[in-house]
Amino acid sequence: MQFFLDSAITSEIEYAIDTFNIDGVTTNPRHIQVSGKPFLSVIREIAKLVEGTEKTVSVEVNPHFMTYAEMMPEAEKLAAISPNFVIKLQCVEPAFKVMEALAKKNIRVNCTLIFSAMQALQAMRSGAYFISPFIGWKETNGEDVKGFIDDIVTIRDNYDFDSQIIVAAVRNARQIVDMAVLDADIVTAGLAVYQEGIQHPYTQEGIQKFTQFWDKTKYE
Ligand code: E4P
Repeated sequence: MQFFLDSAITSEIEYAIDTFNIDGVTTNPRHIQVSGKPFLSVIREIAKLVEGTEKTVSVEVNPHFMTYAEMMPEAEKLAAISPNFVIKLQCVEPAFKVMEALAKKNIRVNCTLIFSAMQALQAMRSGAYFISPFIGWKETNGEDVKGFIDDIVTIRDNYDFDSQIIVAAVRNARQIVDMAVLDADIVTAGLAVYQEGIQHPYTQEGIQKFTQFWDKTKYE
């Protein structure tokens, strides 16, 4: 399973690449706003951090854009900035034709804001390179997320679609493990989710105990 970092903070991205060797980055308008930098500046900075690698960076088209005429040139403009960029399009009717047109030009799309298997199916039919079903929001809403992702993985495999599934809005390690068991390709989460996920109180307790024994023992 690949781990992506959901962030537009360059220091976090550098740290996550160095520490966890994360496989890619996902951004959204909230992350860009939190970075405190203008959209184009920050995505260019992120592009530099992954330059020369296979790591993808998902960058989202202006969410106001709701027509082919608006989305298409903006997607092409963003894709021209970096070969690592995958263009994020919201799962709305006009986006499907844009996905097909971009796929023909070898521009990769991440279809985002997916909350139903039907949306995922249509995005895969339209040639999305990534699809991003959000589980955190659904879980907060009391919806079943394991069945949701299981259906999407099954549909993808039934029809041999090429799309990779990025499980998004992941909040904790239990969700990551659940998604790995379901054979989802990728998860994307904030840095704290990975950091907290690899901790366990018994690991800390063990370190404390073993260092005490170590300190009472001669080395040679
Ligand atoms: C995924 O690509 C999204 O950026 C992300 O997971 C959105 O969810 P959140 O902002 O609620 O974490």
